[in-house]
Amino acid sequence: MSQRPSQDIAIITGAASGIGYSTARYFAARGARVVGVDLSERVVELMSELPGGAHLGIARDLTDPTAADRVIAQAVAFAGTPTILVNSAGVALLDRAVDVTPDRWQTTLDVNLSATFYMSQAAGRVMLGAGYGRIINLASQAAVIGLDEHAAYAASKAAIVGLTRVLSKEWAPSGVTVNAISPTVVETPLGKVAWAGEKGERAKAEIPVGRFAQPEEIASLIGYLASADAAMITGTNVLVDGGRTGV
Ligand SMILES: NC(=O)c1ccc[n+]([C@@H]2O[C@H](COP(=O)([O-])OP(=O)(O)OC[C@H]3O[C@@H](n4cnc5c(N)ncnc54)[C@H](O)[C@@H]3O)[C@@H](O)[C@H]2O)c1
Repeated sequence: MSQRPSQDIAIITGAASGIGYSTARYFAARGARVVGVDLSERVVELMSELPGGAHLGIARDLTDPTAADRVIAQAVAFAGTPTILVNSAGVALLDRAVDVTPDRWQTTLDVNLSATFYMSQAAGRVMLGAGYGRIINLASQAAVIGLDEHAAYAASKAAIVGLTRVLSKEWAPSGVTVNAISPTVVETPLGKVAWAGEKGERAKAEIPVGRFAQPEEIASLIGYLASADAAMITGTNVLVDGGRTGV
């Protein structure tokens, strides 16, 4: 059985907003050192203001395939070998399938899928060496049900679920677990734009619990999957959907 780390070192992508930021706050409040990565420069200030101090914000475009190795090297130099990676950076570019442009298709796959893979690969290399790690990938309910205007997004998120399974299988023997989380609509900047107005009210009516999720409700599940206690959970896609995909 792999060892519980004395202090968690959590790398979180998309840490300047929404689920990523809530997750950064969650880990910082529980004594972890956080390395937040985001396209937005705001991540530097936001991470410096987290409780506990000793956190790092890195402003980086993760669609650059060389970014991941540099981010992990920077994190290792700053805090040591990461114990946790949360891949939360994402975009939702919604179009009817007949209207999707090559540019918007490629951007969606580059951010949501390729950045998740390259970050996992780079973190995995050091976690495997340490014999311990927790990787959590943000997928979506769109990975398991068909939603209008979600062709590129759904493709990227379903691919994350497949990727999660393969990484979990390859890395479980070395103490590294890899799981996906698939929320319904979460009230973040991304969720509010994608589900504004009447469309959002209709979507809410389809959720048995009767509301959208809050980012803190996703962060607390990430926290559990990232804990040493969750050693037997790997390769799963956990739905946080108020019952939406079960109806
Ligand atoms: N909000 C929802 O309804 C919802 C539902 C299901 C899944 N998700 C997924 O959860 C994750 C987080 O979503 P959120 O709602 O917090 O979104 P958000 O827009 O609030 O935050 C996403 C962050 O990712 C960053 N980002 C975008 N492109 C980047 C790039 N190239 N390099 C580095 N950072 C980049 C953005 O700057 C932003 O800070 C996403 O993967 C999203 O697909 C969200």
